[in-house]
Amino acid sequence: MGARKKGIKNLYSYGIREGVIQAIMSPLVSSLIIVVLVLIIGFGGIRVTSGSMTAGELVAFFIYLFQIIMPITQIVVFITQFQKTIGATEKIVSILELDEEKLTEGREVHQAEGPLVLDSVEFGYSFDEITLKDINIVAEKGKVTAIVGPSGSGKTTLFSLIEQFYPPINGRILLGSEEISSFSLKSWRKMLGYVSQDSPIYSGTILDNITYGLSENVTQDQVEEAAKNGLCP
Ligand SMILES: Nc1ncnc2c1ncn2[C@@H]1O[C@H](COP(=O)(O)OP(=O)(O)OP(=O)(O)O)[C@@H](O)[C@H]1O
Ligand SMILES: [Mg+2]
Repeated sequence: MGARKKGIKNLYSYGIREGVIQAIMSPLVSSLIIVVLVLIIGFGGIRVTSGSMTAGELVAFFIYLFQIIMPITQIVVFITQFQKTIGATEKIVSILELDEEKLTEGREVHQAEGPLVLDSVEFGYSFDEITLKDINIVAEKGKVTAIVGPSGSGKTTLFSLIEQFYPPINGRILLGSEEISSFSLKSWRKMLGYVSQDSPIYSGTILDNITYGLSENVTQDQVEEAAKNGLCP
């Protein structure tokens, strides 16, 4: 639960800080604008009445002033939006820069030759926060094994390790006597069926969604079968 709570707390303090800055800045800026306007009108008015400036010149001065102010505010808006975009893009770029998985390297595996064994598995998304500690599970072939635990205890994380999205920090995950990391990712993941907590639907057709990630040609019958029974074609 730790990481999630920390994230929400951070978001909360950022929200408060943004609110405070906005609450101070916007009245300050509008007061400043009023003061500047009063000064210009006052000083301009005095010069117009004394005859050293015509009313037309004062109006022209105002129009020039607005023409200068508008691009400046546009630049300020651009800078804030640019900063926000950098923040959002950094995350995407860091994901795109990751090495691609080697899907076909390793031994092909087509059926379970023994139980799925988690042997003293340890894992954390960061080194200072360990999510899974000393996990030992034997899921027998042909039997149902249920993993139950409170929210945030690491069930999804455990399945991410089995799917090999992350390697464990310590310990081994074995199928029979072989480590799953020695299998080709493509053949290993083909053996897994996974119904996740939330079912994202990608933009595209239902056909795109059902066949997502399948490089081989899939027949219409297989797609219909999968749609009816939820089986992997
Ligand atoms: N991608 C991630 N990066 C960093 N921390 C994560 C990530 N995913 C999960 N965590 C953290 O790991 C811990 C375990 O989360 P996990 O989602 O595995 O729990 P769960 O048992 O599946 O919970 P739930 O029952 O709510 O689905 C939590 O503290 C969570 O904040
Ligand atoms: Mg979960």
